[in-house]
Order: sequence, then structure tokens, then C-alpha cells
Amino acid sequence: MKGIILSGGTATRLFPLTATTSKQLLPIYDRQMIFYPLNTLIRAGIRDILLIVAPEHSGQYLNLLGSVFKSRGVHIYFEVQKVPRGLAEAFILGAPFIGRDDVTMVLGDNIFEKDFSDEIRNFEKGGLIFAKKVPDPERYGVVKFDEDNNAVEIVEKPKEWISDYAIPGLYVFDNRAVEAAMTAKPSERGEIEITEIHNYYLKRGELKVSPFDGEWLDAGTFDTLMEAGRIVKEKEIYKNFDPMINDAIFEFNEELKAMAKKRLL
Ligand code: TTP
Repeated sequence: MKGIILSGGTATRLFPLTATTSKQLLPIYDRQMIFYPLNTLIRAGIRDILLIVAPEHSGQYLNLLGSVFKSRGVHIYFEVQKVPRGLAEAFILGAPFIGRDDVTMVLGDNIFEKDFSDEIRNFEKGGLIFAKKVPDPERYGVVKFDEDNNAVEIVEKPKEWISDYAIPGLYVFDNRAVEAAMTAKPSERGEIEITEIHNYYLKRGELKVSPFDGEWLDAGTFDTLMEAGRIVKEKEIYKNFDPMINDAIFEFNEELKAMAKKRLL
């Protein structure tokens, strides 16, 4: 299983904060947002991770994540997405990295309380998406599923009710996701939509849905960014990190301190 974190985008809703850095490098309580999706993958045992970033922030990501994980057996690769052309473009940009493997993709601004390790480790074939019950499904991509957890219908921001279950930014696909993305036509807004990949599996009766409980935070606006930090602190979600990530952050901090000391001498 390979892992992809899609961490580009323009983050216009967070201007001017994101005029100077990437949204996913903004803080959620005591660490950068990007460590949360990284944790989702690392604690599921994924050791090869492709980080897709916008060109103007590639140096910042490299500085933060370029070296501290290598000695811990986690290989982080970088790819630049010049223009945000949609979530499913990750499978096109990531095709050489994915090779013949399966892939778990997580969005760089999605924070989960739940540990999805079992679902990811037990994945066999087809597509697996997750579903969270929400009070306002009309704001999300929504999935209707049967009693065997097979997806029946997916609608982006439904005007008419089909289900209360929103689809968060975590997707597990077998290798055919690459082919599905490569053959997908861009939507009216010029993006390669993730729904195209979902529908590829849905049509074949191979899209499973796993409903889950616990916080799902998407830190895309001033309010949700602030809320995310508060909830992470209050519910102690920051304590759910794989020890390897805490060690890597500690090492990075020590390096920074040593450099700061040198400058003072
Ligand atoms: P969005 O929140 O839909 O977009 P955005 O982050 O650019 O923000 P805004 O709407 O404020 O302009 O994106 C969801 C996540 O996916 C986020 O982590 C950015 C990432 N993303 C990409 O990396 N590339 C893309 O082409 C798109 C559409 C999103």
C-alpha cells in the first residue's frame, strides 16, 4: 500500500494567511496541520508516502519533512502540482510512484480522531471510502449505501436528500484508480473530480463504504481552522500520534535549537 497526501490547492478562503504559506503548514494546536494526514497513513503502517504540493511551498515542505523520517523507515517523496486540477489528479501525478500498488489518499487538511489502521490494513480490492453522519449533507459529497456497506449512489452537494453520510477526504483504492483518473474527463470547472474514481468502482459494484464515529475536522476556513485547534486540544487528539512522528518532531526541534544556538555564538 502506497500513501498520497494531497497538500496543494490555493486555499483562497484562508487569504491572507495562505499568502505566505500553505494551508497545511498552518498550526493545529502544537504542530503543523500536515502531521495529521501523515499520522493517518503512518499509523496504518504505510511507509512510502507521496506529498503533492503547490510549487511555491515545495521548499517549506522539504525543509520540514525532507530528512527526519528517512532514518525511521518512512520514505517521503515530493511532487509538484502546478495548478490545482482536482483531487483525482493525484492519481495521475502519482502514477509513477504508485506503480502497481494499491493506494490510500488523504487530503492534507483532513483531521480525524479515529484510527483507520484496521480498515486500511485489511483492504483487499476495489475502492473503500468512509462516511460520517452530518446534520447538513447538502454541503458535502454524500453517499448512500446498503446494509452490506456497498455504495449505491454518490451525489456532490445534493439538492435533494439521498443520505446523511458525507464522504471525508480519505480514500483507499486498488491500482485501477490510476486508469480511472487517466480516462476521466475534466468537469465543467476544469477539474478531475474524485467522484469520477468513485463512480468507476461504483459502476462495477466494487465500492465499499465504512461509516465511522469521532471527529472529522476540515480546517479550510478561519472558523474551522480555529475550531480544529480547539477540538484537538480539548479532546486530546494531539495525543494520538504515532510515537515515530513525535520522535521526528522532537529531532527537528532539537536541530532548530542547535542552529539557533550557533547563530547566537
Ligand atoms: P479545497 O479545500 O477544496 O481547496 P483549497 O484548499 O484550495 O481551498 P479554497 O477552497 O479555500 O480555495 O481542497 C481540499 C484539499 O485538497 C486541500 O488540502 C487542498 C487539496 N487540493 C489539492 O492539493 N489540489 C487540488 O487540485 C485540489 C482541488 C485540492
